[in-house]
Amino acid sequence: MEAGHSTNPSALPLPPGPPWWRIHEAFRTSPPDYILGLIREYGDVVRFRGAFPVYCINHPEYVRQILTRAWPQYTKNTIDYRVIASTLGRGLVTNDGPDWARQRRLMQPMFANRRIDTFDTVINEMTEALARDWAGRAPGATVWLEKDMSRVTFQVVSRTLFGADIDDAADEMTGILEVLNQHPMALSALLTLWPWLPVPSNRRFKRVKQRLDTIVDGLVDLHRRGGGTPDDIVHRLLAARDDETGEGMDDGQMRDEIITLMLAGHETSATALTWTFWQLAQYPEVEQRLVAELDAALGGAPARATDLARLPYLKQVVQESMRLYPPVWGIARRATEEVEFGGYRIPAGSYLSITMYSLHRHPEFWPDPERFDPERFAPGRNESRHSYAYLPFAAGPRTCIGAGMAMLEIQLVLALLLQRFRVTPLAGHPVVPLPVVTYKPRYGLPVTLAPR
Ligand code: HEM
Repeated sequence: MEAGHSTNPSALPLPPGPPWWRIHEAFRTSPPDYILGLIREYGDVVRFRGAFPVYCINHPEYVRQILTRAWPQYTKNTIDYRVIASTLGRGLVTNDGPDWARQRRLMQPMFANRRIDTFDTVINEMTEALARDWAGRAPGATVWLEKDMSRVTFQVVSRTLFGADIDDAADEMTGILEVLNQHPMALSALLTLWPWLPVPSNRRFKRVKQRLDTIVDGLVDLHRRGGGTPDDIVHRLLAARDDETGEGMDDGQMRDEIITLMLAGHETSATALTWTFWQLAQYPEVEQRLVAELDAALGGAPARATDLARLPYLKQVVQESMRLYPPVWGIARRATEEVEFGGYRIPAGSYLSITMYSLHRHPEFWPDPERFDPERFAPGRNESRHSYAYLPFAAGPRTCIGAGMAMLEIQLVLALLLQRFRVTPLAGHPVVPLPVVTYKPRYGLPVTLAPR
């Protein structure tokens, strides 16, 4: 199927979508569910009007066109990314154009598989600390799973970034990052586009952002003076030189990259872990099979990166979990030129939404889409499916740079905790997703623990 260009798109109709007077329906449900509903009603290319027209693109072939085949035609110059940039500055997620390309070139080698695999020691150390904490709890005590997952993934990302122990700074930074991780379309987030507006949310934002910058600058400085651990990511960032110009990063760029990695690299993995525990509790037969695989291969020990090849079901479970609960539920792009998808015209300058949440439920590629079934990812099954039907980490040149690290971390944390504990969600607690930048449980996920 060819898409994304046509000899004369101007002659084509605009995509179908709900009439303006149905806009109130958008407020009755969450944005990903609203978009899923529209796609089921109108098809793979839908137009709806909020504050401005949004074009939802939900066919893997069209998504391939946007993210890979014609990617320079689709920029990140959208309102969401401009809002996120008030926190992440010119870091990799929000940067664009030649500046982004230079930074990506510089940073790609730091995330090569052979380098990532060495993080297994840190991941297991941090998970062991959590397991000790859990083992010390009174039987039947309640644990807020999303908070513990967030703590462990933050510790992992901060140790891999900064090396040596930074626990004091880490606690303060976790609190700050929580304030900064809000929905880009929330009013308080939108107001950060006009930082000089004297509203309380802007003053608070400025205060915590300045504090975060100071902490990060201090940690970079510490590295310049020989602190940290020789091979940590900050040392690698300090040593990185552009092949063409021989230049390194300036201080502001360095800070933006570090804050980006901290934010992009911890909530996402924590969310994936939290929903995986939740889904395992709903499907005990899947959990039993997974625990049997772990016990047989590891016998109670933590998994190393090299063990993962012997744990195929673990990976399938994680993949299926992120299909139904993609931690990044959608991404946005702006079309720089007029284009065509599915026989419809998308005007130049349009805001496009690629919603992993609905793409991962596309019935043509995912029969019985709401069922949690790790067999969908069994060896041999992926090859027969469109490779763009499953995109938790997006794809193309701007694919997630931390995908390998995230997969390693999620699998290792699960392997250790599932062998030691039975995790049971508290009965009667409402578990409802809250789609901010990541897709979190709105009221948290309280669980009880029992030794296994
Ligand atoms: C389960 C965990 C994770 C998920 C689901 C995830 C998902 C994504 C997605 C969908 C994008 C593309 C955004 C877009 O194109 O608009 C992205 C980009 C990115 N992610 Fe991740 N991510 C995860 C973990 C991580 C980790 C652990 C790190 C780093 C330590 C990281 C760093 C980044 C960076 C720097 C980018 C921007 C890449 C670029 O544009 O060049 N992510 N991620």
